[in-house]
Amino acid sequence: MDNKEALLLFNKCYALQASLRSSLGGNLPKTISVVSTYKGEGKTTISAYLALNLSKSGHKVAIIDSNLRSPGLHIFFKKPVGLGLSDVLLGKAELKDIGYDIGGSHLFPNSSIVADPIPLIDSNRMKDIIDEIKRQYDIVIFDTPALHDFADGMVISNYSEYVIYVIGYGESSKDEARECNKLLGNKNVGIVFNKVED
Ligand SMILES: Nc1ncnc2c1ncn2[C@@H]1O[C@H](COP(=O)(O)OP(=O)(O)O)[C@@H](O)[C@H]1O
Ligand SMILES: [Mg+2]
Repeated sequence: MDNKEALLLFNKCYALQASLRSSLGGNLPKTISVVSTYKGEGKTTISAYLALNLSKSGHKVAIIDSNLRSPGLHIFFKKPVGLGLSDVLLGKAELKDIGYDIGGSHLFPNSSIVADPIPLIDSNRMKDIIDEIKRQYDIVIFDTPALHDFADGMVISNYSEYVIYVIGYGESSKDEARECNKLLGNKNVGIVFNKVED
């Protein structure tokens, strides 16, 4: 993605903020998970730019890499592989010791790959971690693995007040997205059509 595309996406996140507000009666959701049908549709990118955009608007934002299978946020933000969410979940690190401040947001990265993350993310430990982060930040954004491939996005969406469903132009059809969306149950879901030429 070049600088022009990045700026365009950042600016589009103002509209995304506005639609998040209007769908929740004027308030922004406290917890947002970002999902898609397939890998590569833009979840990590949208999560990152939405977090930067919300923090530019004065919100204290936590962005959590809850993709323990193919973590990407530390790469997006050009941060070194260090301790991350899976280390906290495994009791190898403390929450306060992980992550990076990025333009007013805090990234809770995940840098080591976990073969079977579901028991880790579907746990009381994960709930406690999220509660702690919710106490410290205004808005929490979760990046997730693709719904078509793994159940992780469903688990994470259960922790979220709002789900952003990213559809990459030409990468998944509305029907496929509709099928995967059913997995999320009765959730507040907003669709972002990504990579659409203006
Ligand atoms: N709006 C966009 N315009 C141009 N490129 C994009 C856009 N959104 C995502 N990309 C590119 O698509 C690729 C996949 O995006 P990524 O966010 O990693 O997807 P996911 O997290 O869903 O697997 C990356 O190379 C990213 O730079
Ligand atoms: Mg990703």
